[in-house]
Amino acid sequence: MELYEHMGGAPAVRRLVEAFYPKVQAHPLLAPLFPEDIYPVMDKQELFLTQFFGGPPRYTMKHGHPMMRARHLAFPITAERADAWLACMKEALEETIADAELRKALWERLKNTAYFFINTESDEAEHTKSDGAD
Ligand code: HEM
Repeated sequence: MELYEHMGGAPAVRRLVEAFYPKVQAHPLLAPLFPEDIYPVMDKQELFLTQFFGGPPRYTMKHGHPMMRARHLAFPITAERADAWLACMKEALEETIADAELRKALWERLKNTAYFFINTESDEAEHTKSDGAD
């Protein structure tokens, strides 16, 4: 069985996404990267995670080839931000997925991907951040 079915299909993916983004918006390292209106991002993430966990290719049908690393190049993703993203996701998984083994499987899949999206040295991000604040 795919992770998608195991976790409970569409409603479970939606619950996960809805638990996740408020944490992202509350995180000091992540919040500045995201738009104030988070709903379009949530919707895209719902479509993406559906196919990422082995469900129907909802993201590709609507938005084309995911090219997810490329879509993240516009944003300075440091190791710290990848850790922050994963910390938010870990909490969201704990809140919405009861089965510890399933949680671990979902987590492992996301962890490798998040580190793969790192595209910026930490110092460079610090620099960008202070430029933005000035
Ligand atoms: C590593 C840390 C990550 C950071 C800091 C990050 C940050 C972002 C940001 C800033 C956006 C754009 C929001 C906007 O539309 O303005 C975005 C979009 C998105 N992210 Fe991430 N992300 C990370 C990891 C991930 C991972 C691991 C996944 C999936 C497993 C993911 C899936 C997505 C999706 C599906 C979108 C929407 C893409 C689209 O525009 O179609 N992200 N992310």
